[in-house]
Amino acid sequence: MSKREVRNLLVGLDIGTSKVVCVVGEVMPDGRIEVVGEGAAPSRGLKKGVVVNIDATVQSIRRAVENAEQMAGCRAQSVYVGVSGAHIKSFNSTGVVPVRNREVHERDVEAVIDAARAMAIPADQRILHVVPQEFVVDGQDGIHEPVGMSGVRLEAHVHMVTGSLSATQNLQKCVESCGLRVDKLILQHLASSYAVLMPDERDLGVCMVDIGGGTSDIAVFKGGSVRHTAVLPIAGDQVTNDISVAFRTPVPYAEEIKVRFGCALPEFAASDEMIEVKSVGEMPERLLSRHTLAEVIKPRYEELFRFIRKELHRSDFYDVIASGLVLTGGSAQMPGVRELAEAVFELPVRLGAPQNIQGLKDVVRNPAYSTAVGLLLYGAQDQPKLAVRGTDGGAGAGYLLGRISNWFKGNF
Ligand SMILES: Nc1ncnc2c1ncn2[C@@H]1O[C@H](COP(=O)(O)OP(=O)(O)OP(=O)(O)O)[C@@H](O)[C@H]1O
Ligand SMILES: [Mg+2]
Repeated sequence: MSKREVRNLLVGLDIGTSKVVCVVGEVMPDGRIEVVGEGAAPSRGLKKGVVVNIDATVQSIRRAVENAEQMAGCRAQSVYVGVSGAHIKSFNSTGVVPVRNREVHERDVEAVIDAARAMAIPADQRILHVVPQEFVVDGQDGIHEPVGMSGVRLEAHVHMVTGSLSATQNLQKCVESCGLRVDKLILQHLASSYAVLMPDERDLGVCMVDIGGGTSDIAVFKGGSVRHTAVLPIAGDQVTNDISVAFRTPVPYAEEIKVRFGCALPEFAASDEMIEVKSVGEMPERLLSRHTLAEVIKPRYEELFRFIRKELHRSDFYDVIASGLVLTGGSAQMPGVRELAEAVFELPVRLGAPQNIQGLKDVVRNPAYSTAVGLLLYGAQDQPKLAVRGTDGGAGAGYLLGRISNWFKGNF
């Protein structure tokens, strides 16, 4: 017997340089999110986080989405999509408005955020996010929820993120070519932070680094809000290239030995543990030690961490991250990376995998899935009524019908 029902589902689509991941989350009556479908496909059409081949990207998206749909038993209609790349720019801005009736109303909050976002943006950029950091009412700072407060002057501090018009249009085009609508484009590291950071880390001050294949994306939080974001063009692909060049081996083999035997600290790798390495052309295979492999891997990670340290100093956020750093992304899985980072930053460092998520835990509890899972968590906040009113009878049903085009229709 087949029954047609509406499920409260959200879809996150992480179009990365190494892989495309689609995760389907079901919002449970208590607001928790359960991952009910997951699909991944190698990514062939991106370079350093930016689409360079539309056809290849569309194929990867199709495969990932189809796999996730099959597992979840649904058909996706719209998705939250992650965006990154060197074209992303971010900065902080401030807006001030008079409070109209001596008590802050929602319209005053909207007005002050509009005032803060009224910045001159280059014509080839579009605004992706305007994230409120804090509000100030009559000089009283540190306010997160100003509605209802008495005062005459409302000030907002926001973090703004912009991206290249053409790069984001290309990304959108790829998703739409697969018959999907884009709910929202979300900065990848903002999404990852939803999946891996703890509330006390965000409060005390933390720097999250998502080390992927093409880019390393950083996000600094303090006082519960995002303060700084940046995209750096050094990540796992460079490590693979270094191995390929140093040992004169084809890139796919370099990738394989990196993932199987790699280590970011030579002192963690035995010098008598030998690995067979394929050569290019007709040359015979050679043997090399894990220790030698680690000596090739370490400098690139070290360069990345020094680069991040410099970026934190440059932007004046180094002294803000009292709770240290959280590393996530596929390349954070390399043994020895945490210890190497602690040595460079002289701060505590931990590895971050997605949390606050139920369901296919074994699949999604992987640092490479942080962005995709974070997109679901972001989506649930973006559609708060979805989480709260998803399954209640009267109002919920009406709301469900209203929002139905944004979700899936489950067919059973
Ligand atoms: N076990 C592992 N040890 C070390 N590196 C790994 C491991 N597994 C995956 N990687 C590396 O992680 C990188 C891919 O990470 P991830 O899946 O987070 O990238 P992505 O999201 O596709 O790319 P980006 O975010 O840069 O666009 C590749 O360079 C891969 O070699
Ligand atoms: Mg990524």
